Amino acid sequence: MEAKTITLVQESFKKVRPIADTAATIFYNKLFELDPELKPLFPSGEEAMKTQGNKLMTMLGAAVAGLSDLDALIPVLEGLGKKHVGYNVKESHYSTVGAALLATLEAGLGGDFTPEVKDAWAGVYQTMSSVMIGASY
Ligand code: HEM
Repeated sequence: MEAKTITLVQESFKKVRPIADTAATIFYNKLFELDPELKPLFPSGEEAMKTQGNKLMTMLGAAVAGLSDLDALIPVLEGLGKKHVGYNVKESHYSTVGAALLATLEAGLGGDFTPEVKDAWAGVYQTMSSVMIGASY
């Protein structure tokens, strides 16, 4: 992965971290708007959603931090992908989650969500989800 992509993603993620709870809410609202059928896959209730949002942020954070050492990240993502099969996640759901993620970043970053930052995140999500999908289906 290009050094520039990694820097763009890492720097923009730093700005989302302080608003993690808000970002989690935006993310799930967007996700369920895009595909209401995904709702039953997740635990319901505001607290559960926050916990799940934190998990997502923690994982994204670890992934973002680990981008410079993709070799070490790959087995983690492979394991995570397999776990997702057990959560009833289908291959097609990955693009919906990717769209919800980009929409969340756009809402959270505002003017800092430049086309360059968007492309960088799209590339990173694509890379991460391909590894998860490749290990699972
Ligand atoms: C790059 C893509 C993704 C990342 C980094 C990610 C990250 C995570 C993490 C870290 C967890 C918690 C795992 C655990 O502690 O067992 C999780 C759980 C979960 N994820 Fe994902 N995920 C991704 C894609 C998806 C997709 C495409 C879906 C489809 C809707 C999805 C749905 C779920 C569900 C349903 C759970 C379990 C919720 C629960 O029971 O608490 N994830 N994910």
